[in-house]
Amino acid sequence: MKALLAITFLCLLVAVNEAKVFEKCELASILKRHGMDGYYGYSLGNWICMAYYESRFNSRAVGPTNSNGSRDYGIFQINSRWWCSNGQGRTANGCKSSCSAFTDDNITNDIQCAKRIVQDPNRMDAWVAWRKYCKGKNLSSWTRGCKL
Ligand SMILES: *[C@@H]1O[C@H](CO)[C@@H](O)[C@H](O)[C@H]1NC(C)=O
Ligand SMILES: *[C@@H]1O[C@H](CO)[C@@H](O)[C@H](O)[C@H]1NC(C)=O
Ligand SMILES: *[C@@H]1O[C@H](CO)[C@@H](O)[C@H](O)[C@H]1NC(C)=O
Repeated sequence: MKALLAITFLCLLVAVNEAKVFEKCELASILKRHGMDGYYGYSLGNWICMAYYESRFNSRAVGPTNSNGSRDYGIFQINSRWWCSNGQGRTANGCKSSCSAFTDDNITNDIQCAKRIVQDPNRMDAWVAWRKYCKGKNLSSWTRGCKL
């Protein structure tokens, strides 16, 4: 009985932590539906490439604590120092949101916040992984094979 309980509990934990990992084309169509193709001049491929290298398309990703104490949340790895509040340390909370709101499977609010982030002068350079792996690259493969 004890073992059964333990197993049940374990399964519950696994269910809670189970990551929603988006498919490339699934994400592409959601982003397109939300007007991200060409948003601030960035084609869809930029957003998909960025999400891949930031979170591997995992909408529940929480990054390790950064050296300055902030953390990054969700599919776009939104930063707690500037954009959301995790209740730990200072935050500008530019997206007026809790960080945990960016770690569920509904990425509507993540997209809203990304739209706000790219309006700042840094544009997509705000995302280090984008700058490293996507900026200036041929991004056609990120939308290839998708019905958009
Ligand atoms: C803290 O580090 C993160 C990740 O390196 C960065 O995005 C953020 O801008 C930094 N915050 C400050 C205040 O330097
Ligand atoms: C996702 O969240 C938005 C609000 O942030 C809501 O309007 C929408 O209905 C939600 N979508 C789903 C599938 O729950
Ligand atoms: C990008 O790569 C694809 C094939 O991989 C090619 O067809 C296309 O012409 C390239 N675009 C540019 C701007 O080089």
